[in-house]
Amino acid sequence: MTHHLKFSLHEEAGTLALGVSLARVLVPGLAIYLRGELGAGKTTLARALLHAAGHQGHVKSPTYTLCEPYALTLNGQPVELFHFDLYRMKSAEEFVDAGFRDHFNGANICIVEWPENGGTLLPQPDITLVLTASGTGRQIELSALTDKGTQCLKRLDFAPNL
Ligand SMILES: Nc1ncnc2c1ncn2[C@@H]1O[C@H](COP(=O)(O)OP(=O)(O)OP(=O)(O)O)[C@@H](O)[C@H]1O
Ligand SMILES: [Mg+2]
Repeated sequence: MTHHLKFSLHEEAGTLALGVSLARVLVPGLAIYLRGELGAGKTTLARALLHAAGHQGHVKSPTYTLCEPYALTLNGQPVELFHFDLYRMKSAEEFVDAGFRDHFNGANICIVEWPENGGTLLPQPDITLVLTASGTGRQIELSALTDKGTQCLKRLDFAPNL
């Protein structure tokens, strides 16, 4: 069962609005991979999602730390969310030794920028999001790769401002 959606995101506000909509369909254990060139808007989307999911502090890009943890409450349940940026990951050992692989455990939510750098270290995601430049704005394609991801995308309520 697959589910596929495509939207135009005009200006940053469009990306922020999609982040808010995605926050509403999060479930424990979800793995979302964010693909797209440098500056495509991956962190912008993750930031909006985290704030809409109730994180009140700063959301910094995990550019150098590779991973930033967040403690969220979803429907009254505590859930940990790990935001990765693997752009600067140097080796598989670095990832494994830091315990990052253990975060993909079916309970935590994992959002990964530059998953292509994780290669075979990463499990298959539930959802992939691909951002591409389109004029001054962006296009985004959302694909569910598992039943869990499909259920989430079916619940997604997003009407981009055209
Ligand atoms: N829909 C959009 N239209 C125009 N600009 C956007 C849109 N979404 C995000 N941006 C802008 O794109 C810029 C880069 O965004 P961001 O840092 O989120 O990219 P990134 O994909 O995380 O890059 P990196 O690969 O370097 O981590 C920001 O200035 C942001 O405001
Ligand atoms: Mg980024």
